[in-house]
Amino acid sequence: MTDLTPQKEAALAAIEETDSLDALDAERVAALGKKGWVSLALKSLGGMSPDQRQQAAPAIQAVRSAIADAIESKKATLEAAALEAQLANETIDLTLPAPVMPVGTIHPVSQVMDELAEIFADLGFAVATGPEIEDDWHNFTALNMDESHPARAMHDTFYFPDTAPDGGDAASSSEAAGQKRMLLRTHTSPVQIRTMKEIAAANPGGAPVRIIAPGRVYRSDSDATHTPMFHQVEGLVIDEGIHLGHLKWTLETFLKAFFEREDIVLRLRPSYFPFTEPSVEVDVGYANENGRRVVGGHGDDEGHDWMELLGSGMVNRRVLEMGGFDPDRWQGFAWGLGVDRLAMLKYGMDDLRAFFDGDPRWLAHYGFSPFDQPTLSAGVGARA
Ligand code: DAH
Repeated sequence: MTDLTPQKEAALAAIEETDSLDALDAERVAALGKKGWVSLALKSLGGMSPDQRQQAAPAIQAVRSAIADAIESKKATLEAAALEAQLANETIDLTLPAPVMPVGTIHPVSQVMDELAEIFADLGFAVATGPEIEDDWHNFTALNMDESHPARAMHDTFYFPDTAPDGGDAASSSEAAGQKRMLLRTHTSPVQIRTMKEIAAANPGGAPVRIIAPGRVYRSDSDATHTPMFHQVEGLVIDEGIHLGHLKWTLETFLKAFFEREDIVLRLRPSYFPFTEPSVEVDVGYANENGRRVVGGHGDDEGHDWMELLGSGMVNRRVLEMGGFDPDRWQGFAWGLGVDRLAMLKYGMDDLRAFFDGDPRWLAHYGFSPFDQPTLSAGVGARA
C-alpha cells in the first residue's frame, strides 16, 4: 500500500497557500473530486484483500477528513477576508443629505369638503351621497322640473345616448320611464330626493332630515370660471315648523366658521328655483383688498360690495311629496353651493381651470400638507 502522507502534506500546503475561492475549489477537485487522488485511493480499496482493506481504509479516510477540514476552514477565512475588503472599500457618508421623498398634497377642494363636513357635523348634519351617473327623474322631474320645464335648458346636461325611452312622450315624465334615461348629474340636488325617499321608506310620511351632500357635478360649459366638472355641496333640513329664519341662521353660522370671521353679512334676494318656494339668492358682503375679494363686512359699506354666493329656499311642497314626505306636516329649506368657488374665495386662487389641470407645481403651492393640516381655529361649538 502506498503511503499517502507526502501527497497529503503537499495538498494541505497548497490549500493553505490559495488566495482565492476559485483556486481553493480547484484544490478540492484535484483531491476530493470524482477523479481526485483521494477518491481514486478510496476506489482502490475494492481491489484489496479484506486484511489489507482493514488496514488501509482508516488511513485513507483520515487523509480525506484532514483535506476536507482544511478546505472548509480555508474557505471560511477567504470569505471573511472578502467581506472585510468590501467593507473597507465601500463607504457610507452619513453627512450626505437624504434623498428627497416626494410628498403629495391635499387638493384644496378635498380640504374645503373636509372643512364643510366638520362645520356641519357641529350643527348636527350627516353627509349624504348619491350617484354621479344619475337618471332624469331624480335629477329633474322629482325636483319639480318635468319634461317641458324651461329650467332644464339652463343646465347644459350631458345625456347618455340611447337611454331615452321609446316614443311615449306623455309617459316619459313618469318615475319608471324617467329612471331609464341616464345623464351626468347637473347638480347635487337629486341627493335631496334620494335621501328623502330613503328616510320615507323607513318612516312613512317623513321624518326630520339634516344632511349635506358634497360631490361632483357636470355641465357642458367651459371658460375661466366654468369647468365641465365642478363641485357643489347641497344642504337639506326638514322638520316641523322650519322657516326662512332657520335657513339664514344656518348659512350665517356656517360662513362665520368657514371664513373664520364674525363680520359675515348676508343679503337674501328673491329668486326662482323650481324645487324651492319661495327661493332666495344669497349674497355675502366682501371687500376688495389689493385686487382680491375678501369676504366680510356689509356689502353697502364703503369699499365693499355684494357677491352672489349660493341658491336656496324653502323646499317646494311638490318636492316634499315626490320624496314621500307629507307637505302639510313637514317644512324644509335647502341650498346648493359651489365648493370650488368657496375654495377660491378662502384660499385666493383665481382661475378655476387650474383646479383640474393636475399641475404638480400648482398643487405644491395651493395644496395642503397631509401631515400639517390647517384646522379651523374654532368649530361652531366653540363659538356658541
Ligand atoms: N341646484 C341648483 C343649481 O345647481 C342650486 C340650488 C338652488 C340648490 C336652490 C338648492 C336650492 O338646494 O334650494 O343651480
